[in-house]
Order: sequence, then C-alpha cells, then structure tokens
Amino acid sequence: MSSLLCSLATTSTISLLAIPSSSSSSSYSSSLVLYPKPKARNGSTKAARPFRSATARRNDDQNQNSSQENKLDRRNMLIGLGGLYSAANLGSNTLESSAAPIPPPDLSTCRPNLGPPVPYSCCPPTNTTIVDFTLPVNPPMRTRPAAHLASAEYMARYNRAVQLMKNLPANDPCSFMQQSHVHCAYCNGAYFYPAAQGLNRGEIQVHGNWLFFPFHRWYLYFHERILGNLIGDPTFALPYWNWDSPYGMYTPYMYTDGRTYPALFNERRRQEIYTRPVNLATGGSSTMTPEQIANNNCTVMYNEMIRTATTLESFMGAPYPRGNAVPNGPGTSERGSHNAVHNWCGDPRQPAQEDMGNFYSAGRDPIFYGHHSNVDRMWTIWRQGRPNNQRDFTDTDYLNTQFLFYDENRRLVRVRVADCLDNARLGYQFQTNGVFVTWTDCRPFARVRGRRAARISDAPKLETLEFPLKLDKVVKVRIPRPRKLRTSEEKEKEVELLLIEDVEVDIGEFAKFNVFVYEEEDDFDDLNKAEYLGTFSHVPHKHDTPMKIKAQERLELNALLEDLDVEGDEEILITLVPLAGDITIGGIKITYAPSSA
Ligand code: C2O
Repeated sequence: MSSLLCSLATTSTISLLAIPSSSSSSSYSSSLVLYPKPKARNGSTKAARPFRSATARRNDDQNQNSSQENKLDRRNMLIGLGGLYSAANLGSNTLESSAAPIPPPDLSTCRPNLGPPVPYSCCPPTNTTIVDFTLPVNPPMRTRPAAHLASAEYMARYNRAVQLMKNLPANDPCSFMQQSHVHCAYCNGAYFYPAAQGLNRGEIQVHGNWLFFPFHRWYLYFHERILGNLIGDPTFALPYWNWDSPYGMYTPYMYTDGRTYPALFNERRRQEIYTRPVNLATGGSSTMTPEQIANNNCTVMYNEMIRTATTLESFMGAPYPRGNAVPNGPGTSERGSHNAVHNWCGDPRQPAQEDMGNFYSAGRDPIFYGHHSNVDRMWTIWRQGRPNNQRDFTDTDYLNTQFLFYDENRRLVRVRVADCLDNARLGYQFQTNGVFVTWTDCRPFARVRGRRAARISDAPKLETLEFPLKLDKVVKVRIPRPRKLRTSEEKEKEVELLLIEDVEVDIGEFAKFNVFVYEEEDDFDDLNKAEYLGTFSHVPHKHDTPMKIKAQERLELNALLEDLDVEGDEEILITLVPLAGDITIGGIKITYAPSSA
C-alpha cells in the first residue's frame, strides 16, 4: 500500500458551501435561453401516482417501525406465482430457494487485461485488511449544488480537487485513474464473488438490476469524500447535472471551459454537447428544436419517474441474488435518462464511444460524476414520493448485498446496500433552492381517447409474427390482453405489464428503441403524448465474451391504459421504433405482477 496520505491539504479550515439562489453567476448559463414549462394540453389530469405531501411523508416516517412487519419474502412470492413471473422477469435464471445476497468481490480474483477491441485493465490495488463501514455520527451536511447554478468559487474548488486527484500516482486508490477503474471493475467482467454455501461463483454486475442505484450511490459517496479530503473540506459535495430540468439540460459550464477548469474538461466527448441540449428521448443527435427536446425530456422524466414506475422492480431493476446468472432487467430510470446521457456524452469519434459512451471508460470523464449525482438525486426524489414502507425492497438479498471501496484514508471498506438507502444519513443532500422539478407536471395527454378495437384491425396479430424478431424497422403488432376492465381494486393489487422478452443486442454497441401504444399518426419524434410508453436502451460494456447480451424489458401499462381510455380493449396496438443498434426480440406479451414488489 502506498504510504501517501490522501489529504494534501495544508489547512483544516471548513469553508461552508455557498449556494447561489436562482440566479447564475456564470456568463455561459446566464446567456442560456430558459424554456418555459411545457404547456399542458386539455384532457386527463389525474396523476398516476401522485407524489405524497410532506405531511403524509412525515406520518410515514412515524410509522416506520410498523412497516417492518410488512416485510414480504420475495422468494416465496415468486414461488407462489409459479414459473410465469420468474421466467418473464429473469430470463433463464430460475431463482433458487437457497439464494443469498451478493457478497463483496474477491479482489484476488479480479480479472486484468480485458477487451477487445480496446485492451484495458481495471483491477484495484489489493489489500487484505477490510474494515466494515459505519454510518457517520452527526456528519457535517454536504449539499450537492445543481451544476448550472454553481458559483465560480465552487467550480474553481471542484476543479482543484479533481486536479489533485489526477496528480496522485496511478496506483494510488485515491487517484482519478483508480477512481475510474472502480466503475469498470464492477461492470465489465473483472469482479467475481467466490463460490460458497453450495452457491456458484458469480460475476458481479451493477447495471440492469436492483444494485444499480445503491452501487452508484456508494461509489460517489467515496469519490466525494476523497475529493473533500484532498482540499481539506469535509463539507465538499459533488455537483449534480440537473438534466431533468429545462434550465439544466445544457452541459454545465464547468465541464465546457477547458481553460478555466482544465481538470473537469475531457477531449473525448460528442461535440454537440457544447451547443445542444441533452436529448433524453434519443440519447443521440437529432434535428429537433431545443423546445421539442425540452418537451420530450419532460415527458420522458414523467414517464420513467412516475407513470411507468409505480413498483420497486419497475424503477429499481430486476432482483439479483447470489448464485444466479446476472439478470439483465434495467429499471425505467437506468434504461431511460441514465443511458441516454451516457450515449449523449460519449464520443462517436472514438473506437468504443469513449469515455461516457462505454461503461469501461465512463468514469474517466469528470462529467460522469455530475451525471450520476443527478441519477442519485432521481432515486432520492422517487423514494420521497412513496409511502415509507414502499421505498425499498425489504428482501435481505438486497439489503445485505456488499461492495468494497477505498475510502479517503485508503482503507478498504466493506459497505452494505442497507446503509445507503437514505442519503441524509450518509451526510449529504441536494440543493433544492432555485431548482425546479418541472416534470411532475408533465403527465402527457392522449392524442385520441376511447376504444379503438375496430381501428387496429389492419395491424398484424401477435401470432402472425415470427420470433426472434429482428427490429430493423418499425414493428406494429396487436397484443392480446388476458384481462380487461379490471376493477380499481385489481389494479391496486396488480400492475399490468408489457413484457418484451430476450431483447438481444451487441454487448459493445449502443442500442435503443422506443415503445408506443396506439400510436396511429406514426409521429415517433414527439414523445409528448400519452401514447408513448417507454424505452429500452443498452450502453456498451466491453467483455471479451459473449458478444451478444439479452435483456428483459418491463413496461407498466396501468396509467397509459387509463390515459387512453382503452381499459376495455381485448388487444392493444404496440409500435416498436428502433433508434440505434442491432436488436432482436424474443417475445412480447402482457402479464400481471404484484404492485407491492
Ligand atoms: Cu455505472 Cu452510468 O453507469
């Protein structure tokens, strides 16, 4: 182990983070056109899952203890539901009754020399002394500023911290290089957990499953602590790129001015990110106007945060217990805005869309941390919108999953998912002053309401399509609904799901398609309508094998069917619109799953 201390600071002065209110201090962002909130059209205004009031949330907090008794054993539920549910949601992985939480990686078996096409290694320095994480007692509260509102003083401080991190020797676990390797190691086939208790050795993967939010929260937690330590400021907090708001959808200034903030700049980025707003709908270039992009972004956010994310599994991703093959069932936020921003920032001029466009290299771009700080904020906002006993999986396979990270003192720390559920307990929060969460008002309206059974008769029936089906053009299909006119009680209990099974893509290629229901105008660029259901996307991760990867796509239909007023239809018209990549789908069907999971 290196004997260097992470802290190079000569002063222990605690400078309090000054957060400007709504006015921006940077010349760049003050010249931005600020888009008004997308206007609502007439029609249904009922919220799918209204976010809960502060009072309701307080009451929930007071009921915290009783919520413990509502624990559901996920495995029993799955067994009770038979093969249909597990096969549908976990692909070929059958849950074993002896499943257990994923243990931390075995660093001694970390696989170096990964690739192709680009050879890379991302194993950390080894260390046999592991300490268990303990939650800080009364930590100083760190407030993460919205990047577009950050002061020049803050930007200079963040730049200095990252510069100090970049100056550390490459084998120092606190160095920027090693920090970027953390992401690579956890998602590119480097890490395995050992076989034990009759359960197989397994690969560790933190994307496409319920570890997505917890892993990235812990990763940023340690990254932030190391940066704070390097500048001697325990209140230092990472910025968040507020891409979910029309006010924050341009690339924040601090990442764009390489002369003033060289440590935050990166050559390997898509050049459009400096002149165009982030496109959450396509994740790529487009000819849309900034207004159209803002409107689409708002619907994308509403959809992935509220309308199609009423259950834990839909939002968080597929369960991933020990001993099973890695599931690939990303949640709405991961496969939506999260993946879109990765591809948006990745450089098409590089062999594998480095840096942000590929998981092995994403952590090398400082913008990664601002992006994930906002992803983390989305988790916080989503949890706050739910009753206390529905915020987190209660399965111990989830809560006791463990990861390893180096802390600011270069100790190798073992953490549990259970300790990161509440960001305030980790000592940080997100700036809310001057930040507008506009998408909660973006429930889209239907272009056409009412039963349309007669109008879809020219679209092919499901049984006439041959699977696996190549998605090399727009595909329309009529999908039968096993149940219609469900009562509100039934809808409360079970969510109606459109499952797109065995979505096969090249592991090293960005892939994306959008899904519409009863889209009769074939206007696929405009997502600002109730007919837009959601998206599938895949961000490349490099592995040597296999070259193909399969994912399961789970899309909640309840609110959309209400919005379109088609709950009585026996079949619905689905349109799949490919945007990028070589995609094949194995099947498509409607099924039902418990709302409580
Ligand atoms: Cu681990 Cu945004 O990726």
